Amino acid sequence: MIEVWIGAILLFCGLFSSTIGAFIGINIGTDVSNLPSATDIIGILKTHQISHVRLFDSDAHMLSALSNTGIEVMVGVTNEEVLGIGESPSAAATWINKNVAAYMPGTNITAIAVGSEVLSSIPNAAPVLVPAMNNLYKALVSANLNYLVKVSTPQSMGVIPRPFPPSTATFNTTWNSTIFQILQFLRNTNSFYMLNAYPYYEYVKSNGIFPIEYALFQSLPSVKQIVDPNTLFRYNSMFDALVDATYNSIAALNFSKIPIVVTETGWPWFGGAKEPYATVENAETFNNNLIRRVSNDSGPPSQLDIPINTYIYELFNEDKRPGPVSERNWGVLFTNSTAVYSISLSNSDGRANSSTVFCIVKPGADENQLRSGLNWACGPGQANCRAIQQGQPCYLPDTWQNHASYAYNEYYQKMHSSGGTCDFDGTATTTTIDPSYGSCRFTGSSNSSTSALFPPPALGPVSPFSRSSRNYIYLRQIGSLSAVILALILV
Ligand SMILES: *[C@@H]1O[C@H](CO)[C@@H](O)[C@H](O)[C@H]1NC(C)=O
Ligand SMILES: *[C@@H]1O[C@H](CO)[C@@H](O)[C@H](O)[C@H]1NC(C)=O
Ligand SMILES: *[C@@H]1O[C@H](CO)[C@@H](O)[C@H](O)[C@H]1NC(C)=O
Ligand SMILES: *[C@@H]1O[C@H](CO)[C@@H](O)[C@H](O)[C@H]1NC(C)=O
Ligand SMILES: *[C@@H]1O[C@H](CO)[C@@H](O)[C@H](O)[C@H]1NC(C)=O
Ligand SMILES: *[C@@H]1O[C@H](CO)[C@@H](O)[C@H](O)[C@H]1NC(C)=O
Ligand SMILES: *[C@@H]1O[C@H](CO)[C@@H](O)[C@H](O)[C@H]1NC(C)=O
Ligand SMILES: *[C@@H]1O[C@H](CO)[C@@H](O)[C@H](O)[C@H]1NC(C)=O
Repeated sequence: MIEVWIGAILLFCGLFSSTIGAFIGINIGTDVSNLPSATDIIGILKTHQISHVRLFDSDAHMLSALSNTGIEVMVGVTNEEVLGIGESPSAAATWINKNVAAYMPGTNITAIAVGSEVLSSIPNAAPVLVPAMNNLYKALVSANLNYLVKVSTPQSMGVIPRPFPPSTATFNTTWNSTIFQILQFLRNTNSFYMLNAYPYYEYVKSNGIFPIEYALFQSLPSVKQIVDPNTLFRYNSMFDALVDATYNSIAALNFSKIPIVVTETGWPWFGGAKEPYATVENAETFNNNLIRRVSNDSGPPSQLDIPINTYIYELFNEDKRPGPVSERNWGVLFTNSTAVYSISLSNSDGRANSSTVFCIVKPGADENQLRSGLNWACGPGQANCRAIQQGQPCYLPDTWQNHASYAYNEYYQKMHSSGGTCDFDGTATTTTIDPSYGSCRFTGSSNSSTSALFPPPALGPVSPFSRSSRNYIYLRQIGSLSAVILALILV
């Protein structure tokens, strides 16, 4: 282990992307029995370098905790709230003041999702949907926030009865007038169409018409290429086809230039006996390929120049949700911040542009390796690990991932000018997104109290033996190389 670091003298050469392109965000559902506190959730988002989140409601704790994090936020008007807001402009104004204006600009709220799949889940509320959107928009205008916050409403693929082939897709004619009004609103307010598109459900429904590779973004054998007979566009993935079916349905009502944002997509990693496709392997394949697909910045075949910004469903498994087993297993992370399967949620969006390079844990890194890397960084690496000790600002979330990220970055900021690398046996990666959260400031952050890149090592008091399982605390206290080596052998 130690020889690896002593031998590591190659200067790191940054290869971070500077594209201002599509982003990958994540939905945060909260039907979770041991839901971490809002502050801990922010720590988890930072650890995994998540830059965009969607909340299904407007939870005050989350909106406060998200302030000054640089994370972009979509808030939700719940289906229960839609009726009151649709019927009363003053209810809309109250909602905007309490849930949006009160948190801006500290919390970067950029969109409001009005209801969730209202047309397919509570069709009786359809008549108040557009009035609700209008009332909210007018309230934003009054608060002078309409240029910063978009209003839209997520719809399921259920409003498009026959999405394949995409060229002939149209909205269910039952919803002609409602959808027409929605599209008019989106065009007039420069907003976007919110689409919940699940290749998982379309695949399960299709009864074997499509190969599973198509749903999972995998390459198809040449005899099974999927081509739209009218446009001759070749569809490499069902995801692209669903997005194009929606663009074509919009075009069929004579609207154009309304971009689509995918507000939900994903794949469950566990299911009941009758849900054979809900597996870890499929979920891992789908979500990683999705991220790769979205990050290439191209749109679907009919709209190549409109990137498909996408929110993955979802951050945690919502174990309290009713329904089939799979319904409770869409999460990509456990609440202790470890990934359910190997996945890299970071994406280099426009903010990955600051001049500081941070060194953090690579999502999905092996825990035993993290433990060794952490011990090394805080011991022989001489990183200042004070902030990750109990009671200190970066202690929570109390995970190997979080603590190692902090320690790796401390080491890297101090040592990279003299040849220290951001590798840690392959468990580390560099990022230009500031991993700081709440009062936990990473060295190099513009707001770090030690924003000088080479802080003197702090020798402040630590509490030895407070966590026998976290022996790096103990090592830091002793600070002698022979003790470190001894303890590493004992791990
Ligand atoms: C840094 O602090 C300033 C002022 O306190 C604040 O406006 C800014 O958003 C903070 N930036 C980050 C990245 O936290
Ligand atoms: C909020 O997000 C928008 C969209 O990415 C960005 O343009 C803006 O600079 C962000 N605002 C703040 C205060 O971070
Ligand atoms: C359109 O929606 C209505 C109301 O939900 C439903 O009864 C009808 O079956 C749908 N049409 C198609 C073609 O799916
Ligand atoms: C809905 O729009 C389609 C396409 O414009 C049209 O053919 C259909 O008659 C309309 N249906 C209703 C109920 O208005
Ligand atoms: C869309 O425009 C075409 C051509 O102007 C027209 O024939 C058609 O009726 C329009 N369809 C709708 C739904 O407005
Ligand atoms: C981006 O993805 C699309 C759709 O899968 C594909 O057609 C295109 O070749 C990709 N572009 C690059 C540069 O990889
Ligand atoms: C995190 O939680 C998962 C699921 O409960 C568990 O399998 C895993 O061992 C936990 N990891 C840590 C570091 O506690
Ligand atoms: C990103 O980099 C460009 C060019 O160096 C600079 O002009 C811009 O201000 C930077 N943006 C941010 C958010 O740091």
